[in-house]
Amino acid sequence: MAESKHKKYNNPVTATITGITDLFRKQIPAGELKPSDRLDGKTVLVDGSSSGLGFAIACDVARRGARVVMACRSGIPEQGERVKKISGNPDVHMLPVDFADIDSICKLSTAIRDQYAPIDILICNAGIVPKESRKTPQGLEEMFMVNYFSKFIFVNLLLNHKVFNPQTPNSSLLTLNSLHVPRIIFVASESHRNPDKFDWEEFGIYKDYKIGKSIELYGYYKLLLTTFSCELSRRLSPSGETRISVFSMCPGPVNSNIAREAPKLFQPLLKVVFGIFFKSPEKAAVPVIYLAASPDVEGKSFDYLFLMSRKEVDEKASDPKNGMKLWELSEKLSQQLKAV
Ligand SMILES: NC(=O)c1ccc[n+]([C@@H]2O[C@H](COP(=O)([O-])OP(=O)(O)OC[C@H]3O[C@@H](n4cnc5c(N)ncnc54)[C@H](OP(=O)(O)O)[C@@H]3O)[C@@H](O)[C@H]2O)c1
Repeated sequence: MAESKHKKYNNPVTATITGITDLFRKQIPAGELKPSDRLDGKTVLVDGSSSGLGFAIACDVARRGARVVMACRSGIPEQGERVKKISGNPDVHMLPVDFADIDSICKLSTAIRDQYAPIDILICNAGIVPKESRKTPQGLEEMFMVNYFSKFIFVNLLLNHKVFNPQTPNSSLLTLNSLHVPRIIFVASESHRNPDKFDWEEFGIYKDYKIGKSIELYGYYKLLLTTFSCELSRRLSPSGETRISVFSMCPGPVNSNIAREAPKLFQPLLKVVFGIFFKSPEKAAVPVIYLAASPDVEGKSFDYLFLMSRKEVDEKASDPKNGMKLWELSEKLSQQLKAV
């Protein structure tokens, strides 16, 4: 794994302190999410929406009138029923998926193509902080798979299935709102700035680790995810014409279930710290909903928000050379595993 000199996200304590101090830094909002930012007539696919941020996103987009498809590992059908009840929108659907398993991702992509295409907005949200390394059914490391590689496979399958369709100027849906260009949104993290470099030689290779290394690796996989989002946006906006917008963001610290695998001894303390200092999932969802529903970002090829502030991603992530390299390695691994 690439060594990291900044040490801000190298362990759970420094990561938590960094998250809290970031919340108090001065922010210049990129824009404002308005009640009039509606999603009527749009289909929004949000994964990892059984819990935390993803669940709050599903409720909010449902309230804004979208047809919502929740791709989840657990909570089927009860979390979908809760979203319907909270939002008052009955047009909420659930599909099962385990992002640690390539076969499951392939089944999900086919179900989306067959049952819910076209998709207007995809929100890739699922993520984990495991207490130790675990092998996936295909022999990969679970956090590498869930936090990065599943997204490469999933998005490419959906693109191959042509599920993202821009609305044509003749579409009757144009009368409902002014969003025409499909959007893909990645829930990333500021911890993507932590690693000093990529470790291309070790790409995708399973390695054992314990909880002490989890947070550092989490930042590394978020760097891979952010680099992927930059490369994807370049590929989806050839010659300056945006076919699909690609957005990435960090919600800041969220009072969710993300620390569910932290040692039992620390759980009560974390619950208190998260409850006092971290944002509720509903508040943390605002920048995601802004990127999903606001006309301000219509037709942009790429954007990155930290909370509601627009920022440059780390230069390692935006460097096209790194984007190309990551894409090549990811494609090669996908082919070896017969995934895409
Ligand atoms: N919490 C924070 O402070 C924070 C800060 C920055 C970024 N983020 C990012 O925000 C996103 C949402 O996390 P959260 O904070 O809301 O945590 P959370 O409450 O634990 O939610 C994580 C979601 O991901 C799903 N998931 C995990 N592994 C999966 C798998 N193999 N297949 C399918 N779904 C899977 C979970 O499903 P199950 O319920 O079935 O496990 C759950 O719905 C993550 O990408 C995380 O990295 C969080």
